[in-house]
Amino acid sequence: MTMHSTALETATAITIRRLWSSEQDLFRSHFDRLDPASRALRFGAPVHDSFLDIYARSAFSNGNMVFGAFVDGELLGVGEIKLLANSLPVRAEAAFSVVPEWQDKGIGDALFARIVAALQNRGVRSVILWCRSSNHRMRHLANKHNAEMNFVDGDEACGEVRLPWPMPSSIIEEVYGEAICYTNSLWQNKWLKPGSA
Ligand SMILES: CC(C)(COP(=O)(O)OP(=O)(O)OC[C@H]1O[C@@H](n2cnc3c(N)ncnc32)[C@H](O)[C@@H]1OP(=O)(O)O)[C@@H](O)C(=O)NCCC(=O)NCCS
Repeated sequence: MTMHSTALETATAITIRRLWSSEQDLFRSHFDRLDPASRALRFGAPVHDSFLDIYARSAFSNGNMVFGAFVDGELLGVGEIKLLANSLPVRAEAAFSVVPEWQDKGIGDALFARIVAALQNRGVRSVILWCRSSNHRMRHLANKHNAEMNFVDGDEACGEVRLPWPMPSSIIEEVYGEAICYTNSLWQNKWLKPGSA
């Protein structure tokens, strides 16, 4: 699991785990916690709640995947993967969003690392990211994860991260990260706590 160098992880662990289609409502509620500026940055333009209702239903279909970032069991960020149909070698698109009060604390970086590992482990050869040209934070993250950035129309930037074949480190990032989260989730549900039945 990737840890960030800010104060966040000195006190708190970010746990990243996959969200499943049964958690569609939780995923949808994440977008309600984004302020208008973050929503517009995430979707490239202001979007209505009705759009998000439909969008949330499609996010888990066709092999698409969603990962959630949790702190103390609370969903604070999501990273989404859409596999690009009919692309050979296989390519995907990724998008990220973190609730405003938790931005710039390492959550996006941790989600990015997990998504790269998950795609690498599935033989996906590159991942594409779209953001506004002025979205310096997202562009910094993309560069940090070795994206090649291109600019489109002045206002949009597109980055592509080329992925190597699966490696022990990518498998450990995904499997170990999920195992930690599973343990945390059991703990939060009190099943493992001393004295619980
Ligand atoms: C973009 C976003 C997902 C990033 O997640 P995050 O948790 O805020 O990002 P992190 O804290 O992990 O990392 C931010 C990095 O950008 C750097 N950064 C912050 N502001 C910056 C700026 N103005 N210019 C350049 N770099 C900046 C930070 O120093 C940090 O770098 P580091 O990891 O090398 O220290 C989040 O801010 C967000 O949800 N924004 C609104 C939605 C959005 O823009 N989505 C992207 C389009 S898909």
